Amino acid sequence: MQPGVDWAQVAASVYLAGEEYQESRELEGGLERRRPAIERLLAQTPAPDAEVARDIAELQRRLRGPVDYEFPLECKHVAAHIEERAKLSRTPASKPSLEHGAQVYAAACAACHGKAADGEQPRVTLDPPAADLLHAEKSWRPYDMFARVTYGGLETAMPSFGDALSAQDRWDLVFWLFASRWPPCARPNAPVLSASELALSSDFDLSNKVPYDAIACVRRNFTAPAPSPAAR
Ligand code: HEC
Repeated sequence: MQPGVDWAQVAASVYLAGEEYQESRELEGGLERRRPAIERLLAQTPAPDAEVARDIAELQRRLRGPVDYEFPLECKHVAAHIEERAKLSRTPASKPSLEHGAQVYAAACAACHGKAADGEQPRVTLDPPAADLLHAEKSWRPYDMFARVTYGGLETAMPSFGDALSAQDRWDLVFWLFASRWPPCARPNAPVLSASELALSSDFDLSNKVPYDAIACVRRNFTAPAPSPAAR
């Protein structure tokens, strides 16, 4: 293993490459326009060991080839494999505060993503525009959004907040965003999960674990994370 390499960033870059591929493929001529940026992203991603180097080289080869419907999924597999092998911690150190998350959001994100996080009425005009963070089509886990906020977008206005916000601030706001997607909790005696489990569960994952109308409650009322080294 190479010292000083941020494995979380390597995994996040590979994950981002897959997402960008998927999104641009859905637009007419999008992949042609976006491919050079995805190529630069993979070329700049450090490979901490031979296995990752091989995986990234293979992704680069597929990226140069004809349209590849499996490419985004393959990126997700490679990213997940890196996360597991590096034993990355992907959960908050302490219990996220939704209230504080709302404050961090207002201060750091609202100018671009809108007051309500739905991408409406931003204070600045951007191309591409800042995304609607409440009605995301993708099945993100909170950790995936945490990583995006930590490392930023691919040659877009989306900044990286790894230095500007503490890890706890980033978790607080990501937990707040995931809770804000749902109407108020209206189910008595809903199950209560830990913040660690929530950090690694997409809303789709939760729909397989708890009744659908309990998700609004599960995202708002949770226990402290299991003790483990925290994600940076
Ligand atoms: C300077 C403007 C700007 C600021 C400030 C900003 N963003 Fe963004 N963000 C963007 C743009 C533009 C995009 C869309 C392009 C992209 O995905 O890179 C984006 C994309 C994203 C995405 C990916 C969404 C998706 O569906 O692909 C997430 C998540 C996100 N922002 C979260 C945040 C959070 C949380 C904050 C505050 C800590 C924040 N952003 C602050 C401009 C901004």
